[in-house]
Amino acid sequence: MDANAAESSAGTQVTADATAQDEDQVVNPWEVKATSRIDYDRLVTHFGVQRITPAQIERIARVTGKPCHPWLRRGIFFAHQDLDFFLDLHEQGKPFYVYTGRGPSSEAMHIGHLVPFQFTKWLQDAFGCLVVIQMSDDEKCYFKDLPPELAARYTIENSKDIIACGFDPARTFIFSNMDYAGMNKRVLVRLRADTTFNTVRGLFGFDGSHNLGQVGWCCEQEAPAFSEYFPKLFDRRDVPCLVPLAIDQCPFFRSARDRPKASNGWVKPGVIAAKFLPALEGESGKMSASGDSPTLYLTDTAEEIRRKVLRFAFSGGGATLDEHRRNGADLSVDVPYHYLRFFEDDDAELARVAAEYGAGRMTTAEIKTILIGKLVAVVSAHQRARAAVTDSVLAAFFSDEGKRV
Ligand code: TRP
Repeated sequence: MDANAAESSAGTQVTADATAQDEDQVVNPWEVKATSRIDYDRLVTHFGVQRITPAQIERIARVTGKPCHPWLRRGIFFAHQDLDFFLDLHEQGKPFYVYTGRGPSSEAMHIGHLVPFQFTKWLQDAFGCLVVIQMSDDEKCYFKDLPPELAARYTIENSKDIIACGFDPARTFIFSNMDYAGMNKRVLVRLRADTTFNTVRGLFGFDGSHNLGQVGWCCEQEAPAFSEYFPKLFDRRDVPCLVPLAIDQCPFFRSARDRPKASNGWVKPGVIAAKFLPALEGESGKMSASGDSPTLYLTDTAEEIRRKVLRFAFSGGGATLDEHRRNGADLSVDVPYHYLRFFEDDDAELARVAAEYGAGRMTTAEIKTILIGKLVAVVSAHQRARAAVTDSVLAAFFSDEGKRV
């Protein structure tokens, strides 16, 4: 029995709302797996979000005066809640803030973890907004059994990777959820008073075997989406909050939007949601640092990246060179091509690779070599930026002083 289909004491099945689940696909905040490719249409319906339309992508470019991030144009950030409301605010010159987070479950982050943070950094530049980042170290103690001391260390190490994405220290506040004491706890009190065990059982499938940290976690992840939580950063409780996230995290914010009792002049948070970077072995899961499958870490050397891509990246190329030359590659399942959609910013180069490889003129070995070059460039640039994150840089990001909106 897992957390997604807990048995209630009456013996009836509880299917968790926060889990988009059927025989071949399970997606919830703590687990992502599928027997074949992840069906994002089903997730959109299940999590109650909308697809981002081409008209909205144009509108983002128009109101920001900046070219849209390739991940928007390529449908990687693909779903939203209330996006137009935030674009309206920006047009009217009214502030909103951006909130995202990271559960520091391991010392080294992997390249998939860059996706929400690089995109959040782009939002900061494009909209000029304040960014708050919750390091949910306590979440990992509750859900992954990490000792608090270890989780605290991972918070520091992972924060360096996040800072290396290029955030502006004057407009970014990073906090350890375990250690930060400057918040307005009344926000949590309201949320907790508004949350029954029946609600979290229905939402997440929790039962009597789940610990109190797990049972109460949703309030902790929701609270930073309300500006009242940060008395040093905001003097109002109605500064709207937009949350960039991977789609599995949507249930928290659906819950946050549905808080009529707790709501205290708060504004419903909006979300902008991404697809997962597929695992090297194929599209049925996301890249993970905790499973057994091969992972591309941000600490990897060029040689390690090369070896893992050559050995493990699932190929949509033909079974033999002959067949490949005749039929071309199946781009829809080809991991090197999918990774280039994430990491090759140049649309013309991506289109060239798709045409050549799709037609079988480019081989699997060739596309893998192109991908290796790209990943080595991304990872080594990241490592250089991370090495520049000194203790005083960290301290600047972990301070909530002088960042008032
Ligand atoms: N729960 C997320 C994780 O396990 C981390 C997180 C905390 C988060 N707050 C968030 C993610 C807000 C998106 C938005 O990684």
